[in-house]
Amino acid sequence: MDAEKLTDEVLEAYAGTPDPRLRELLAALIRHLHAFAMETALTPQEWMAGIEFLTAVGQKCDPQRQEFILLSDVLGLSSLVETLNAADGATEPTVLGPFYLPGAPRRELGEQIGRAEDGDPALIRGRVTDPAGRPISGATLDVWQGNSNGLYDIQDPGQPEFNLRGVFTTGADGNYSFRTIRPVSYPVPIDGPVGEVFRASGRHNWRAAHVHAIVSAAGYRPVTTHIFDSANEYLDSDAVFGVRDSLIQEFRAAGPGDPDDVTYVVDVDFALAPSVA
Ligand SMILES: [Fe+2]
Repeated sequence: MDAEKLTDEVLEAYAGTPDPRLRELLAALIRHLHAFAMETALTPQEWMAGIEFLTAVGQKCDPQRQEFILLSDVLGLSSLVETLNAADGATEPTVLGPFYLPGAPRRELGEQIGRAEDGDPALIRGRVTDPAGRPISGATLDVWQGNSNGLYDIQDPGQPEFNLRGVFTTGADGNYSFRTIRPVSYPVPIDGPVGEVFRASGRHNWRAAHVHAIVSAAGYRPVTTHIFDSANEYLDSDAVFGVRDSLIQEFRAAGPGDPDDVTYVVDVDFALAPSVA
């Protein structure tokens, strides 16, 4: 049987999918999957190895371990999808990553999201605005990060639940602030099937140091983003391709006029674009 004829036959079988967007996605998926197999002259053994790999990825997932997000991240697909959906004038988005937990505690502006032993204390502060710079009051910042031992709370029995996580709401002037720690580089987990991807390709599995944030407000498109540390050594080789130049910030040493309980201060503003009606 002619390979291209087979592709057409499969496409035809799905051409009646009622939902137009699903029809478009299915057709493109089939075309690209078939093209991949044809371009690489995929063998049955390789196809089965792929099935077994994806099965292992699924079996590694549980409520706190998301191996499929990790796989999407290390193949650059998560980063690509965020880039394709960026809004003009808004803060650049980047990957969600596998360590987000919904339901973090709501905290007061300025509050510390971790513990004194978690790392070097840092104050992060700024404003949430629209693309024209007008402040957005009542905007929400859902922030999370790893400990200076390189682990998120959900990976580390030594940290309490929701450690280094918090939800903050901007005041009338759009201002926010919170205390945390200066983030450190950490290795993405390689004890699961995605670890094979790193070993087989010879890539390192370190992430450039960052704080995660999802910034949202009623009437605006939410942005999933990071605050990267400008002094970090992995900015040019982030394991999940998440770095954007516009998201790199200086963790400057605290000085006169800064609160005396922090070692570093970061000033970072976020911009949200209005929702499309
Ligand atoms: Fe992270």
